[in-house]
Amino acid sequence: MTLADQSTEVLAVPASRGACPFDPPPAYDQAREHNPVSRVQLFDGSSVWMLTRHQDIRTALQDHRLSADGTKPGFPFLSPGRRQLGTQSASFIRMDDPEHARLRRMLTSDFIIKRVESLRPQVTAIASDLLDTMTRGKNHADLVTEFAFPLPSLVICLLLGVPYEDHAYFQKQSHILLSAASSAEQVRVARDDLNDYIKNLAESKRDRDDEDIISRLIHRDELTPDEIATMGTLLLVAGHETTANMTSLSILTLLRNPDQLKRLREDPGLIRGAVEEMLRYLSIIHQGLARTAVEDLEIGGQRIRAGEGVLLMINAANRDHEAFPDADAVDVGRDARRHLAFGFGVHQCLGQPLARAELQIALDVLINGLPNLRLATPFEEIPFRDDMLVYGVHSLPIAW
Ligand code: HEM
Repeated sequence: MTLADQSTEVLAVPASRGACPFDPPPAYDQAREHNPVSRVQLFDGSSVWMLTRHQDIRTALQDHRLSADGTKPGFPFLSPGRRQLGTQSASFIRMDDPEHARLRRMLTSDFIIKRVESLRPQVTAIASDLLDTMTRGKNHADLVTEFAFPLPSLVICLLLGVPYEDHAYFQKQSHILLSAASSAEQVRVARDDLNDYIKNLAESKRDRDDEDIISRLIHRDELTPDEIATMGTLLLVAGHETTANMTSLSILTLLRNPDQLKRLREDPGLIRGAVEEMLRYLSIIHQGLARTAVEDLEIGGQRIRAGEGVLLMINAANRDHEAFPDADAVDVGRDARRHLAFGFGVHQCLGQPLARAELQIALDVLINGLPNLRLATPFEEIPFRDDMLVYGVHSLPIAW
């Protein structure tokens, strides 16, 4: 083989999925088995390291020599829009400690398990209302628009103090931010617009004593208007897109695995574990977590030099047979808690207690409230979100 032949073999990421839309791209599985720390190529021709093993990714996510700061040399971006999002007006998800910790700490009390548990009755009431509205007088609907998006959107609006009436506006901006097809300019305009929206909202709360997160942040007087805006935008976008897509995709997975759906209906005690299994199996943050080395380090026996980018493929890690026996099977009874769907280390998802509660409630309400739940379209016609930063389905026609 000539050198030229070898260079054409470098995998371009994100790679395409194979026959099963729930499975990660087969090329990631092959890399994990044969070359777990490999070179891959990005849209702009640059090459970075790709990690695919569960153990390597857990180790990497705890290593402070890998930075989450998008302005550091070598940081990998998967599209021009993502570069725009990660380099300007980024919130603490794209910062390192101590700055990251300073900002994150201001929100931890809002998302701790105890606080989220106290919200359960409210979230359950919202989910039940949505189910009633969706089913009233008809026997079919699009689950995405009528249930999966409204539920987490209503909840995050409540927590942040954002008026839900504005949902069409912020969902549209959020779609632009998360689409791989958006240009850098489209992302810049949508992000600046959303940041201005939050800034104005925060300012309007200065003289009121509401209980929501944005009100609390503005009254603390420790943050600049820009910091409040980027934090609010991060929470608003992350707070609804992720859970919404997990809800639709989990329902679709259960409809395609009727034996697992039956187990869940027969034993409601399995719901919590089932949500962890869905998070593992579906890994909706499907294009990898991005980091760059700020010092030389070694992972999985491979030397990574300062200034080299690294993509951590949590979807490949969550299908690692070393970590999860029979990893490609859905098993609502397995212990999937070691999954990396929420990341790991200092940037591990802040909203995970909330996401878990919302998903447990959503699945419970849907599968027990709709005993005849079924797909209303051939599976082959369902539009999957390959084009988005957060995987899922664009629509999910269901009947009952
Ligand atoms: C971070 C996934 C729901 C807010 C993350 C990260 C992942 C993730 C993988 C780590 C990113 C990295 O290390 O680069 C998910 C999934 C969710 C979900 C799969 C739902 C199923 C939520 C919700 C919220 C939220 C509901 C807010 C209410 C955040 C924030 C961060 C984050 C603020 C940044 C944390 C930091 O940098 O310290 N999420 N997330 N997420 N998530 Fe989530």
